[in-house]
Amino acid sequence: MERIAVLTSGGDAPGMNAAIRAVVRAGLENGWKVFGVQQGFRGLIAGEFVPLRARDVGGIIQLGGTMLGSARCLEFKTDKGQLQALSHLNQKKIEGLIVIGGNGSQTGANALSLRGFPVVGIASTIDNDLFGSDMTIGVNTALNVALEAIDRLKVTASSHHRAFLVEVMGRNCGYLALMAAISGGAEAVVIPEVETDPETVADDLRTAYENGKSSAIVIVAEGASYNAEGMANYFQVHRERFGFDLRITKLGHVQRGGAPISFDRLLGDSPWRSGVPAATQG
Ligand code: F6P
Repeated sequence: MERIAVLTSGGDAPGMNAAIRAVVRAGLENGWKVFGVQQGFRGLIAGEFVPLRARDVGGIIQLGGTMLGSARCLEFKTDKGQLQALSHLNQKKIEGLIVIGGNGSQTGANALSLRGFPVVGIASTIDNDLFGSDMTIGVNTALNVALEAIDRLKVTASSHHRAFLVEVMGRNCGYLALMAAISGGAEAVVIPEVETDPETVADDLRTAYENGKSSAIVIVAEGASYNAEGMANYFQVHRERFGFDLRITKLGHVQRGGAPISFDRLLGDSPWRSGVPAATQG
């Protein structure tokens, strides 16, 4: 093996830069040439390779996002897109590709692997929804960002005797929402994995009010069948039932933009320290 390439794909996640840096430096230590592919699979289809040296990945371990850029690339789902990507990899004499990303990205990585190209996947997404991995790079930073927001919302909620529906990301996975609810001391949580009747949430809010709480927080996963807006719409006509006045906050992409906490830097750095990539893709 002499030449490898690395790309980041799908939603950026804090710690991706640490993983890029680790891949580059581990590769260089092995005596390989390392190339970065810009904008994920889109860049692979377009043949956008840049050589990466040790200094090119200096000073990025503490940065969120990805220095290589990322993209959601529908074209890579097609035979044409995949064959074009393979042709660029072969032209460039790349012998192995590292794909840093979540579910969609590793599905793409698997497609290349099924076509016989050696691929290694590094699990990185704030959703923590990747089969076969316990913890993905980025989810813990996103969780901390959500927690900081929840703590702040509690302060203003308590001043006004309000309840907040706080929507967190996670696509179809409730991990972020559940962990944020537990560690944020929320009154209720709504996740995609458990069908939740808004009436149950209304009861929880009413109970909190009757127990003399000054505020109440409900964490709602974006992928739940009633997301925060759906839940608020449901309550619209009878929201006085639970005592608190109601507000909604959708955290959205704010959760993705944080500087990686130490855990995500260490997880991202593991390919370098261990000498092998963090997770392998068949
Ligand atoms: O997969 C990461 C994620 O942030 C999900 O939690 C969210 O549903 C989605 O990406 C948002 O995608 P985009 O950034 O393309 O709007």
